[in-house]
Amino acid sequence: EKGGYDYFMLKEIAEQPKAVADTLLGRIDAEGQLTLDELRIDDAELREVDKIVMVACGTAYHAGMIAKYAIEHWTRIPCETELASEFRYRDPILDGRTLVVAISQSGETMDTLMALRHAREQGAKVLAICNTNGSTIPRESDAVLYTHAGPEVAVASTKAFLTQLVACYLVALYLGQVRGTKWGDEIGEVVGELARIGEQVDEVLATMEPVRELARGLADKGTVLFLGRHVGYPVALEGALKLKELAYMHAEGFAAGELKHGPIALIEDGLPVVVVVPSPRGRSVLHDKIVSNIQEIRARGAMTIVIAEEGDEAVVPYADHLVRVPRTPTLLQPMVAAVPLQVFACELATARGNEVDQPRNLAKSVTVE
Ligand code: M6R
Repeated sequence: EKGGYDYFMLKEIAEQPKAVADTLLGRIDAEGQLTLDELRIDDAELREVDKIVMVACGTAYHAGMIAKYAIEHWTRIPCETELASEFRYRDPILDGRTLVVAISQSGETMDTLMALRHAREQGAKVLAICNTNGSTIPRESDAVLYTHAGPEVAVASTKAFLTQLVACYLVALYLGQVRGTKWGDEIGEVVGELARIGEQVDEVLATMEPVRELARGLADKGTVLFLGRHVGYPVALEGALKLKELAYMHAEGFAAGELKHGPIALIEDGLPVVVVVPSPRGRSVLHDKIVSNIQEIRARGAMTIVIAEEGDEAVVPYADHLVRVPRTPTLLQPMVAAVPLQVFACELATARGNEVDQPRNLAKSVTVE
């Protein structure tokens, strides 16, 4: 059932272009308008929403962190993303105009379920983004948007993550559409680009051999750091999480802007640092700042592993290893940038002799606290 792959994780990484396409299927019409009739929250209610709170755990939480950038940019609705395990024990300020989005692959994660119950008790509307039909989280929510990743067997989440991003973006764009915010050229263009993401993931997958080779060479390292900013920051956190759970290595993700506030003290000779570089187009200020960060850490001996879009020449002189990803709008970059990090972690786990699909101490779905 692994379809010729050694591990489910490899199979699921390879299935990502299809998972993304399946999640988009039927949700964008020929005119580039979104049709999310399945949502079961009517447009009038969506127009009233004045606050969005995303709750999730682990990888799904990283998807929610990324979605916050897109939602606020496209809808101008304030959005927070919070770990479900924190949210459920807090006293959050919610009412009937709050939309809580619970993201979960399994639909059975205890903390996420408790967070949504907590939200509904206070009158908030809950929308589930879920990969498992009929599971508890969608059953207890007001509405559901299913991701169509197909069954994810490996404990480490890969294809579910990409489809969670797609689903979050569909919700964000749909809110933009019904509320008339920013609906115009920019969103029209993003919808078109979103439809191409599957192909771009395919392109990334075809160029992963150098990443695998690099990973094998790092099997004896103790620590790997990840840096990013804007939507690249949660991607860095996700890269670090993958490495922890699969390779059992010390891995940490940082917001690159925080480097000088502490983490730069960790940089020493030979320390591998993966840097997710934003596009030089669009938000080019951030691009230039991160290029300076790469220079700074390299000057202190770091081994720089740079993930940058095709055509970005500014990073070349400072990259010990350069991983190219296709050009895409800034907000969509996480979907292509996450893929090399998945491959990297999977290969490191293999090189270290770890059980890829079933890492120690972990369960696929965490139904206890
Ligand atoms: O099923 P869920 O999406 O609710 O699961 C949430 C996390 O437990 C999950 O993403 C976990 O962090 C993965 N093992 C990460 O690869």
